[in-house]
Amino acid sequence: MRPEEAQQCKDRYLFPNVRTYYSQPITLLEGEGVRVRDSRGQEYLDFFGGILTVSVGHGHPRVRAAMIEQLERIVHTSTCYLNEPMLQLARKLADLTPGRLQKSFFTNSGTEAIETAIMAARAYTGCQEIIALRYSYHGRSSLATSITGNAPWRPAGAGLPGIIFAHNAYCYRCSFGLTYPGCDVACAHDLEEVIRTATSGRVAALVAEPIQGVGGFITPPPEYFRIVVDIVRRYGGIFICDEVQTGFGRTGRYWFGIQHWGVEPEIMVFAKGLANGCPIGATIAIPEVADACQNYSISTFGGNPVSTRAAVATLEVMEEERLPERVESLGKLLFDGLLDLKERYRFVGDVRGKGLMVGVELVEDDGSPAPDLAGRFMEEARKEGLLVGRGGLYNNVVRMAPPMTIGEAEIAEGLDKIRRVCRRLL
Ligand SMILES: Cc1ncc(COP(=O)(O)O)c(C=O)c1O
Repeated sequence: MRPEEAQQCKDRYLFPNVRTYYSQPITLLEGEGVRVRDSRGQEYLDFFGGILTVSVGHGHPRVRAAMIEQLERIVHTSTCYLNEPMLQLARKLADLTPGRLQKSFFTNSGTEAIETAIMAARAYTGCQEIIALRYSYHGRSSLATSITGNAPWRPAGAGLPGIIFAHNAYCYRCSFGLTYPGCDVACAHDLEEVIRTATSGRVAALVAEPIQGVGGFITPPPEYFRIVVDIVRRYGGIFICDEVQTGFGRTGRYWFGIQHWGVEPEIMVFAKGLANGCPIGATIAIPEVADACQNYSISTFGGNPVSTRAAVATLEVMEEERLPERVESLGKLLFDGLLDLKERYRFVGDVRGKGLMVGVELVEDDGSPAPDLAGRFMEEARKEGLLVGRGGLYNNVVRMAPPMTIGEAEIAEGLDKIRRVCRRLL
């Protein structure tokens, strides 16, 4: 399809809220490793991995072989029957996750995995109220948009009852006008007053991302999660950790983002990078929380053997290549290169993130958000043959999260491209 034909087809046959990047959308045809190619034959270095999803590179031979083998055996079973890849994945998740997390429910997306987690928290605690964070993103269903604290992603009418928004820790734009560490993490302590003033006094759960993804890779100070989780537990609630973006080595050193903050959740939620691009969602809980879910429930495609086989193969590659450690050192390379730009350009307001999850907040001279500049950054990066993502409440954060199998030379190549982009933005 020619690009113009693809655009016409999209306009005519897709909902308008299927949002694509760029003034002229890119149609991707093929990918290998950290490179993808579009319908014009242009090659790109992929610094976004299909939104932090292609964990071990496009078309990884081991993952592809596992999927093909499974395709030739059986493609679908439903959860009325067991299948071995699903069981192997459940066991592997229980092994990899911290603390007592043990029992999984498989679905097809992060949204469904979040829904599952909230149903489980409500069943276990007998409470209804959910604390969510401002600037968060948790998916596209009615409930998931209602716990999303990022207005552009909330459709008109989102706002189910029983959801209360607490402060996140956005140090670059502190809601309290304070500076860390002198602030004594006031945003975290504020949660107690939120619960005492705006809830019945008993809550089901806090749901939060260890680093807020769509929100613009907002990274809290180390104490934040210990404080808020402790408060929530004192008021009867449990902690649902949304690891959809931060899971599986993405933040470096550890397997999961929350491990940087020293807290063990009662529930973790996964999707995106778990199966290297195959549709999957997973919710893992400690036994007593999982066991509270006694209602009939089925996800027809949940635990699909092709997706779960892809996930097991992806995790095996990650283990063998010791990705969490690798990501830590590669991430430092990327982070330092971007930090250097902050010294050179006033429009680079903040560089943040962990591992291979790094965001650059673009600002005007007075520090206000610069979404137009972020749009120009995207277009210029495209001309350079570099794919990056975008996010933030004000759409002014450029997000970078390449496949975790990327090499040092490719990171250097990407940084060179970004330097050329920045020079053109002056
Ligand atoms: C942190 C987080 N949670 C949940 C979701 C929803 O996942 P999905 O798009 O697979 O439904 C997303 C998607 O971007 C996400 O970033």
